[in-house]
Amino acid sequence: MRKWCVGLWALLGCVALATAQAAEPILIKFSHVVAVDTPKGKAAEKFRELAATYTNNQVRVEVYPNSQLYKDKEELEALQMGAIQMLAPSLAKFGPLGAKEFEVFDLPFLFRDYEALHTVTQGPVGAALLRGLESKGIIGLAYWDNGFKQMSANKPLRTPEDFQGLKMRIQSSKVLDAQIRALGAMPQTLAFSEVYQALQTGVVDGTENPPSNFYTQKMHEVQKYVTLSNHGYLGYAVIVNKAFWEGLPGELRGQLEKAMQEATLFANQIAKQENEAALEAVKASGKTEIIPLTPEQRQRWVEKMVPVHRQMEERIGKTLIAEFYQATGFAAKP
Ligand code: LMR
Repeated sequence: MRKWCVGLWALLGCVALATAQAAEPILIKFSHVVAVDTPKGKAAEKFRELAATYTNNQVRVEVYPNSQLYKDKEELEALQMGAIQMLAPSLAKFGPLGAKEFEVFDLPFLFRDYEALHTVTQGPVGAALLRGLESKGIIGLAYWDNGFKQMSANKPLRTPEDFQGLKMRIQSSKVLDAQIRALGAMPQTLAFSEVYQALQTGVVDGTENPPSNFYTQKMHEVQKYVTLSNHGYLGYAVIVNKAFWEGLPGELRGQLEKAMQEATLFANQIAKQENEAALEAVKASGKTEIIPLTPEQRQRWVEKMVPVHRQMEERIGKTLIAEFYQATGFAAKP
């Protein structure tokens, strides 16, 4: 009788344990380097909420903003190793992964506006680029917009000559490196989390970023001038660890894909207005003077910077650049 009782308890214990295990949600750690109050930060939160709703809390997304888990390059390594499951690095940061073709997005003056950008990110050329990540153990789920970059420094930057000898912080992209050199300045690659301090202490003189990043990192406190150059684009690819993603039960994966589609629509709806609002906030701070370019001044930037396209053909691929030109309507001779 006693033996029978012990057996029953063990069985009940096993059932309870199995139930508890079944109820334990699958965890997706989503790391990123920007503030919560940015297009990427808000879209990550949106995905977290939608994922919980659509999977009926069977998946829990934990979002870690502000480089609190990893800095730029480390986060990509962590994703490949499976320490985190989801990221949305800027397209300029895929080079160190060996996916240097993503640097095509960094080519100066390539995208006239968001509409031109979307011909790529929402079309077959963008989809093919994402598929190329699979050989690196990564699945690309979506493109999330941020915005157009502006140049900043502690002196007004109106002409290419104004860049002479300045040290400019860039992301880890060879295209951005070439772009800064084309202006006669010295590029310096730094992790995003280090930019504010580097500007503050004079390790670098200036930088480029869309207003949403500029404002939320408080760069306006340490940069006296921002030139409205709109000379390049900064946006993201949302990526997941392939083994993790393919190991998910099919139904859950489908629900997460739906959540991602909606979060992507949201991201791409808010990006423009978030950047406009951030620029207004920089203006309102009174700490940074905003410098518009005359058409003639802008043309001088174009003449200096667009030759970088040709220079980077070998690295990025001539065919890919041609595909981008065709999709966006970029005229090689501006
Ligand atoms: C940067 O490093 O400047 C950006 O990539 C940060 C970001 O993720 O928007």
